[in-house]
Amino acid sequence: MTTTSTSRGTWGSRLGFVLAAAGSAIGLGNIWKFPIETGENGGAAFVFVYLICVLSIGIPVMITELAVGRKTGSNPVGAFKKLMPGSAWKMVGGLGVVTGLMILSAYAVVAGWILKYIWFAVSGTLSGKGADEIGAIFTASTSSGWQSITLLLFFLVLTAGVVVGGVQGGIERASKTLMPVLLVLLLLLCIRSVTLPGAGAGVSFYLKPDFSKIDFDVVMAALGQAFFSLSLGMGTMITYGSYLRKDDNLATSAAAVCLLDSAVAIIAGFMIFPALFAGGVDPQAGPGLIFVVLPHIFNNIPFGQLFSAFFFFLVAIAALTSTISLLEVPVAYFVDERGWSRKKAAWLVTLGAFIIGIPSALSNGAVAALTNFRSGFMGEVFNWFGEFSLVIGGLALCIFVGYRWGLKPAIEEIRQGSAEFFASGLWGFMIRYGCPAAIAGILVSKYILPMFE
Ligand code: TRP
Repeated sequence: MTTTSTSRGTWGSRLGFVLAAAGSAIGLGNIWKFPIETGENGGAAFVFVYLICVLSIGIPVMITELAVGRKTGSNPVGAFKKLMPGSAWKMVGGLGVVTGLMILSAYAVVAGWILKYIWFAVSGTLSGKGADEIGAIFTASTSSGWQSITLLLFFLVLTAGVVVGGVQGGIERASKTLMPVLLVLLLLLCIRSVTLPGAGAGVSFYLKPDFSKIDFDVVMAALGQAFFSLSLGMGTMITYGSYLRKDDNLATSAAAVCLLDSAVAIIAGFMIFPALFAGGVDPQAGPGLIFVVLPHIFNNIPFGQLFSAFFFFLVAIAALTSTISLLEVPVAYFVDERGWSRKKAAWLVTLGAFIIGIPSALSNGAVAALTNFRSGFMGEVFNWFGEFSLVIGGLALCIFVGYRWGLKPAIEEIRQGSAEFFASGLWGFMIRYGCPAAIAGILVSKYILPMFE
């Protein structure tokens, strides 16, 4: 077995890697954020643009991150340092480290709500209630500052405990059986959702594209959502790729992860939108969207309480395998570049994420100034770090590999282990021209051109 770096360890098997990468990708981005973005950006037309972004930009960028990671065996900062010593490119890696910390701080707030919903399910708090009442209970719950902060802390400690305890592999192995169960449950809920009275309007909102709704705000949202959902743009996949073996096939692994992740998002939409219309909820309901719609489905199935407890438990596990990967990037940086112990790095980064997460936890009703600040403090963290910064990171990576490191050494790296990288020409074209042009065009159209209007 050839490994990039024996002391850092590798995935036990090819499946081990696909599971970990899919575990990182599949999470609240698919089940919570994708329906929100779809609702806010006009439904089917957004879904259409989203899928184009995944296929044309997501897959090539994921292959690239994995190649950079496996070649260098490093965290994002170390990776740029090794490929281009003494240059400013390491700052792109640095942006990734900061971005990971920031996303983690807000993501764990929402993951905390999921934990709260496990409790609601067990206690039957939402059973038999209508959408308005459920919405009021959700708002009351997120408006409680101490509750939100406690749940945030709890989820972060859970994440750090896994990363420090080295039981990550165990979680990933457990999720190998749990995630297919989640998928089955999602499919069952889809069936219930589309058969609810009044669901038809939701199906057509989700499937019948109104192309007149597509503008650069929608395209930017779709691009950002693709990066977020696929865990791209901040070096998660560089870090995970650094644990890959030389004989793993990068291109097919990347494609498998991207397709699996998109399938879960599409299915989640199928579960939410029909039920949303059936329950009389506004598609633009914001961060509370699924928290109001899902109980409506569970209230309409036999053993709903039981199902819903189990469902939210599985979503919490999916969120955990994502927060693990978010924490892993700054931790790998402090371990590799600053020589910290894993334990010290994990707990200090977690403390940082907790402190930064407090205003996010308080921005959903608890503190008016944080709630009413633009789209709320938490919303802004997601906008700037969960969207803008990822897209900038992705653009920088394409330019770096396309013009500095070079397509040839990258293709050599990708070819290791796979006899043929059949799409190498297309991949090279996309990394050098297609992706940078599309991303830069979208950024300019959304942020620069409006300044001249
Ligand atoms: N992709 C994950 C989700 O959909 C979240 C996530 C994990 C992430 N690691 C990331 C997002 C890195 C952006 C970058 O829930």
